[in-house]
Amino acid sequence: MASVTDSLIRRIDQGDPAAVARAISKIEDGADDASALMKQVYAASHGGLVIGITGAPGAGKSSLVDKLAQRYRDCGERVGIIAVDPSSPFSGGAILGDRIRMQTLGLDEGVFIRSMATRGNLGGLARATVDAVAILDAARYSKIIVETVGVGQDEVEIVKAADVSVVVLVPGMGDDIQAIKAGIMEIGDIFVINKSDREGVYATEKELESLLSLATRADGWNPPIVKTVATEALGVQELTLAIEQFGDRQRNAQMTSDRKRAIARWRIVELLRERLLASVLNSESAADELDRLADEVATRRRDPYSAVDELIGRREHIGIATERLDDGLAIWRDALGLAVEETEEVAEQRVRVAMLPIGDTRIELLEATTPDSAVGKFLARRGPGIHHIAVKVEDINAALAELKSKGARLIDETPRIGAGGCLVAFVHPTSTHGVLLELVQHR
Ligand code: CO
Repeated sequence: MASVTDSLIRRIDQGDPAAVARAISKIEDGADDASALMKQVYAASHGGLVIGITGAPGAGKSSLVDKLAQRYRDCGERVGIIAVDPSSPFSGGAILGDRIRMQTLGLDEGVFIRSMATRGNLGGLARATVDAVAILDAARYSKIIVETVGVGQDEVEIVKAADVSVVVLVPGMGDDIQAIKAGIMEIGDIFVINKSDREGVYATEKELESLLSLATRADGWNPPIVKTVATEALGVQELTLAIEQFGDRQRNAQMTSDRKRAIARWRIVELLRERLLASVLNSESAADELDRLADEVATRRRDPYSAVDELIGRREHIGIATERLDDGLAIWRDALGLAVEETEEVAEQRVRVAMLPIGDTRIELLEATTPDSAVGKFLARRGPGIHHIAVKVEDINAALAELKSKGARLIDETPRIGAGGCLVAFVHPTSTHGVLLELVQHR
């Protein structure tokens, strides 16, 4: 396993495009070894300049990116291009755009082009794109251009994560500039008015200037406005100079660390979000459960809040018998800092319980309300300690039947009411390696 990752990393380090493509696919597919791979990829960074390019559809971003790439190629640089199009219904992305590109840049070994469109059921397009950029960087592409279509939240984040962010506008946008202001105006380090041979370029420039003059950036940078006609390669040199200027400034400036820290924070949160979602939703039974809950919410038999409670409530608990609940809380809550999710008295079990989430499960502190309850007898016989481990099941009667058929000794042949109003049933410790087992079915 490690050797597959190692050889892939070695080939990426040699700039092998096939290895880069394979690594990006692993990231998109969420392969088992993707996380191990990315740890090595990030360790192998070469400090390539990441240029994010965004703007409204039809602004001519693709032509601009192609001309920019050609210019960098003329200077002998290796260029990686990632086109992000979450709106594309095709897995693998903007097929037509790619085909046009292949004619001009695709045969050049110094250019790597990849479209990213697939948004998995857990999201993660922005994360996958940023990872793909890191792979290109590890493969020694010195200029990495990320082109995004439109102004969705993912795309804004992707462009924010670039070293230099370029926002592309076209003449005659009028009120549209106002409309996109909130979304992308503040992320632009450089503004391009493309198709500047068209009518209305002057008005657009003036409007843009006045909008930019309203905002003062913390880093003191005044975003330049570059006019281009991408199809004619006009203004592309000016754009590369502006990119270089801001790039250099970023490398030297104090502000860089603040911006980098904000990007790093976003990336950690993004990865965390995805991991936590995956830990709840990434199994076949979870997919079935999600379907069932969606059906119940859609038909108003359930509200979405309790559906989420149920999904994340799959972790059940470890029951610990205490002489007094307060003794347990003094340790688990006060000394160890765990939060108490809820406390309640479970009449049928003759216990008071406190639930404290810990990792993917919960500690259930137990106090007997009468000495002749199960927990009371346990305490008298053995003193405080781990009393039982509870496991969630979908169908408690089916689980009991299954256990019985395997020869397990059941304490409860039929379910009873436990904490949180769940159906519960206990299995004798002699059948379960000396640990009392509680089955829990949520209702
Ligand atoms: Co329990």
